Amino acid sequence: MTDPILGFSKLSKQEKIDWVAEQYTHDPAQTKKLLLQYWNADTTLQKLHDEFIENTISNYYLPLGIAPNFLINDKLYAIPMAIEESSVVAAASKAAKFWLNRGGFKTKVLATEKIGQVHFMYSGNPEHLEAFFKNVKPKLIEEAKPLTANMEKRGGGISNIELRNKTSQLKDYYQLHCTFETLDAMGANFINSCLEQFAKTFEVEAGKSPYFEKEEGQIEIVMSILSNYVPNCLVRAEVSCSINELTLSEAVSPEEFAEKMIRAVAIANVEPHRAVTHNKGIMNGIDAVVLATGNDFRAVEAGVHAYAAKEGNYRSLTHASLEDGIFKFWIELPLALGTIGGLTNLHPLVKLAMEILHKPSAEELMQIVAVAGLAQNFAAVSSLVTTGIQEGHMKMHLLNILNQLGATEIEKNKIVDYFKNHTVTHSSVVAEFNKLRGTR
Ligand code: MEV
Repeated sequence: MTDPILGFSKLSKQEKIDWVAEQYTHDPAQTKKLLLQYWNADTTLQKLHDEFIENTISNYYLPLGIAPNFLINDKLYAIPMAIEESSVVAAASKAAKFWLNRGGFKTKVLATEKIGQVHFMYSGNPEHLEAFFKNVKPKLIEEAKPLTANMEKRGGGISNIELRNKTSQLKDYYQLHCTFETLDAMGANFINSCLEQFAKTFEVEAGKSPYFEKEEGQIEIVMSILSNYVPNCLVRAEVSCSINELTLSEAVSPEEFAEKMIRAVAIANVEPHRAVTHNKGIMNGIDAVVLATGNDFRAVEAGVHAYAAKEGNYRSLTHASLEDGIFKFWIELPLALGTIGGLTNLHPLVKLAMEILHKPSAEELMQIVAVAGLAQNFAAVSSLVTTGIQEGHMKMHLLNILNQLGATEIEKNKIVDYFKNHTVTHSSVVAEFNKLRGTR
């Protein structure tokens, strides 16, 4: 049994490591060695990482890969992706190469509105609240000026504040539903600071307002926070080609392939079990770029899945059609991203990723990320409806299995060669490895 610890955050990094190694691991010396192995030799760089969060004991690496040959609105991109799943970068690259000679990806930002809400309770007359809100709204904006001045200088700021009566859903529940334009910033800090200021002004002014009877003026603020559901921060990415150019696999004709793709999307539209996996494949691409560019993948995940369920059923984020001999495959999804602020100015690899992406604006990054999701889905679904996913997936996973087995470079080369013409399964790789070592 381990004991609870008080004041852990006050310990030095070494003390934290000693404590966790000794309390929670079977070989403390080995644990300490392992954690140390992942420290960066450059102490400035290590300190930077240590200070991203509290209680840092080491760094946690993910591979950073590049998927080249993405033609987006006639501009060529090599997309950095941070992800551990073996087949994702390969699949993205394959889709990029396929569409490179078919006009590439066409994208468009449809809207960039961010949302935040002040949630509050009020049990008095709704008409009095509405009259008060109308009167106080300019003051809400005015008193947030010190926070919004800079953003306004650049063309952004508060777009609107609305009073919403939610009492039919929850007794006494109202909200200030606020919309913002945050330009190249994801905007979480900006929005939350504005909301907290709105709440303060709102509460103080309500206390002295002539619009309320004495006992009515009691407005109880519950919380002020941005919403990660941003259905009006929307981007669309599309690929299309003539049916004759849909020559992806020798095993199926272009017509058959188009039909299979359209049917696979239709299934994901009506069947939530499939839709979740279909969209998970999209998120393989999205998250990898969101992570590589230092954005908040949890916010993106939450918002995207809520959007997929906006009609009441969880559906596919991608769409496919065949009209007048033109096959079209597209995605529309909400993405609240930033290219300034947060990790983007801090993490050296994030800065590099931004440079590789031609230093995009937030709108450009939205389009690149949407393309990564669309490409990933095209690659996954086209494999699923033709060869099946395991062939490519297991080929990529082969090296992971060989590394687990402790294969040498020579053994790896021999076994990879062998599996060029054989089906990869975990047991077949183990058998081949044992055969090579003469252990069985
Ligand atoms: C695996 O990470 C992703 C897939 O399952 C996506 C899909 O089924 O469309 C292959």
